[in-house]
Amino acid sequence: MPFVPTPLPVARKMLELAGAGPGDILYDLGCGDGRIPLLAVKEFNVDKAICIELREDLADKAEEEAERQGLKGRMEVRREDMFKADISDATIVTLFLLTSVNNELAPKLRKELRRGTRIVSHEFQITGWRPLAFATISEGHISHNIYLYVIGYSTR
Ligand SMILES: C[S@@+](CC[C@H](N)C(=O)[O-])C[C@H]1O[C@@H](n2cnc3c(N)ncnc32)[C@H](O)[C@@H]1O
Repeated sequence: MPFVPTPLPVARKMLELAGAGPGDILYDLGCGDGRIPLLAVKEFNVDKAICIELREDLADKAEEEAERQGLKGRMEVRREDMFKADISDATIVTLFLLTSVNNELAPKLRKELRRGTRIVSHEFQITGWRPLAFATISEGHISHNIYLYVIGYSTR
């Protein structure tokens, strides 16, 4: 899957919709250049953000940016396959993948995440899950959809 970054205003809206803040541990699965975890730490003051990325060049970029912004203590980059990552301590998971990939991930999310964990997906839904909230935001000429799911509410 190619790297397509979430525009920052959309990322901000995702984190607002999830109610991100102190006490949260956020995972971005396929974090690209790390912009969502970086924003979560910098502007939303989450306790910790974990950036999971397979591509070395992107993981390097995310790590360099965390270092440059002095956020390395609270932002961790893991170079691994998101399907194999331990995400069990997450309170928020962010996704910008494809519906097919979301659906492949769904059993893992359901199995590993605790009740009440929020999952925010940019653009793509998780088939059969019930969103608790939905938002749209326009960036340039493009309208972006954001879906919020909560373990225990969206899943049964
Ligand atoms: C559409 S980009 C989204 C990047 C970032 N989350 C954002 O919203 O700006 C998807 C990213 O997922 C990464 N990716 C795809 N499959 C992966 C996997 N199995 N494990 C870890 N990262 C993966 C890609 O390398 C790419 O950087």
